[in-house]
Amino acid sequence: MQVKEAIESRYSCRSYKPERVDDGLIADCLQCAALAPSACNKQPWKFYVVRGEKKAAIAKCTQLFGANSFTDSADALIVVTAKPSAIDKAADKIKNLDFSANDLGLAVGNLCLRATELGLGTCIIGWLQAGKIGKMLPLSVGEKVKLIVAIGYPADAPRTKKRKPFSDTAIFLG
Ligand SMILES: Cc1cc2nc3c(=O)[nH]c(=O)nc-3n(C[C@H](O)[C@H](O)[C@H](O)COP(=O)(O)O)c2cc1C
Repeated sequence: MQVKEAIESRYSCRSYKPERVDDGLIADCLQCAALAPSACNKQPWKFYVVRGEKKAAIAKCTQLFGANSFTDSADALIVVTAKPSAIDKAADKIKNLDFSANDLGLAVGNLCLRATELGLGTCIIGWLQAGKIGKMLPLSVGEKVKLIVAIGYPADAPRTKKRKPFSDTAIFLG
């Protein structure tokens, strides 16, 4: 699969088959995530692949106000954390730039595209109780839960992508 095909095929999967994904496939996706660029190559991310009882408990922490009930059907939840480096903190303080959030977005993008190529479904989840989830994981000092990626074999079908008109978002100057 070419990169463009993976970009066009990826969608937020919100229903999963009750089939286990081989750990090797998830590791492959995480290796692709870790190849993403990051500010000063600080790689502020960590990925916790969670299944079983802990996964069920973490899923509940994404289901506020009736949201994200599909997380119960995912084979695994990948909890993505960031531990901002001193450079990240300085950039945030001096310039109000959130480098580590940018870095995580790039890493999670790679993860989802590689998963698509491997026939897996993913959904990025930002609606979550970060503090509660963090208490269930062996986080180091300063490490914070930022995102979750649900992963599994898709039980739904890709939807037509809804996007703003290209001319609203791409501006060519000069
Ligand atoms: C940072 C971020 C947080 C998101 N949080 C959620 C979420 O909590 N629940 C959900 O169902 N989808 C979530 N999504 C998925 C978006 O809704 C989805 O990417 C968007 O609607 C475009 O659809 P597509 O991914 O199928 O192309 C999130 C996506 C991003 C990038």
